[in-house]
Amino acid sequence: MEKFFEKLDSSLRNNSIIKMTLSKPVSKNSELRNIYVKPILLKNNKMYQFTYRYERRDETKNFDATQTMEQVRGLVPEMFQNVSLFTLMEDVTLLVSKKGKPTLMCKKVQENREQDFSHDHEKLRLIDPTNPWWHLLGLTTRDGKVTADMQHKYKQICKYVEIVDGVMRQTKFDDDIHIADMGAGKGYLTFALYEYLTTHYDKKIVMEGVEIRPELVAKINNIIDTCNITRSDAIHCIANGTIRFIEGSIESYKPSKLDVLIALHACDTATDDAILKGIRNNAKLIICAPCCHKQIRREMERSGKTDAITRYGIFLERQAVMITDAIRALVLEYCGYKTQVMEFIEIDNTPKNVLLVGRKTDKLVDKEAVAAQIKALMEQYGIEEHYLWRNLWRNSANGL
Ligand SMILES: C[S@@+](CC[C@H](N)C(=O)[O-])C[C@H]1O[C@@H](n2cnc3c(N)ncnc32)[C@H](O)[C@@H]1O
Repeated sequence: MEKFFEKLDSSLRNNSIIKMTLSKPVSKNSELRNIYVKPILLKNNKMYQFTYRYERRDETKNFDATQTMEQVRGLVPEMFQNVSLFTLMEDVTLLVSKKGKPTLMCKKVQENREQDFSHDHEKLRLIDPTNPWWHLLGLTTRDGKVTADMQHKYKQICKYVEIVDGVMRQTKFDDDIHIADMGAGKGYLTFALYEYLTTHYDKKIVMEGVEIRPELVAKINNIIDTCNITRSDAIHCIANGTIRFIEGSIESYKPSKLDVLIALHACDTATDDAILKGIRNNAKLIICAPCCHKQIRREMERSGKTDAITRYGIFLERQAVMITDAIRALVLEYCGYKTQVMEFIEIDNTPKNVLLVGRKTDKLVDKEAVAAQIKALMEQYGIEEHYLWRNLWRNSANGL
């Protein structure tokens, strides 16, 4: 075991770590599945980014070399039985048996390796701001630089695209992938995802943005025409698909096919309409970052039922957000979606940074148990009606 720590210590000292994974939790009930460590540069200081991968979320923390050593010493072998350490010179694997017996394997590296110090922030450059639509959409200057006041939006959509890409890569699709962006607004996310997928996927992408404000829809469709995005002879063509904006409510939208449904900050119950649209059209993926949460807050205020937490206005507001989204997640589970709730971007970018990710599965769901959880939550907070849960049952005998 000490031999392993010596190797870790020397690779920290000579800055040769490429990556390291701590896996195989000692406790079978551990929610923390593994920890992924990589070197990063933070304000020109070498640091190590620890990504703690839990069952339903990831958390990251940065440590310097000394702290990294302390962290790993605290975690191995008490919490994790396996460590894989990849350095510029060798691959080191530590396996600790159930009885605590360590085995160390080392393999010299033959090829030339490089380290990647890019912080997650830098990986966000998934779209090319010099494409002409970005200027026309108001994200960039004429020469393709993201304007100061649009930096946060740019980061937000890049992060969203990164997450959608990650989830899509684990999903099987036909040769044409139909995606709908609900409450598309000015179309930033719609364009970003379309640009990314058409340049990174070998499939036809059919993208539709649904937006209730006619002036926005007209403007954006005009930009699509001006840039000739889908005309194969155009200079900036990204023709491996189609993109168009549809004027109308999410509720009235009738897709010919729907594989992936996305919604970024669709106001209040528009997120519920979006989720329901995805469920009803059997979307493989439903990925929403909700916004506002007024409906449930009103319900909670109306009931006058408060507890030690919700008697404080600010907590009532926060609790309303959590309950709204928890019930949304449960509704997705009820409808056969394996659901994750995660933060998709730092809170200083937007406080509305929760992302609901639902993947359709074939697994049988204990609907009664899920419905009971929804009912219990609603009762606890005096909620008579959750918009999505109610509408799931509208015109439907079995809630589907
Ligand atoms: C906060 S904006 C977000 C826009 C965009 N998704 C983004 O993040 O940049 C919400 C958008 O949803 C649209 N919207 C709200 N309710 C809608 C509904 N029921 N049907 C269609 N669009 C809706 C609004 O007009 C607005 O443009």
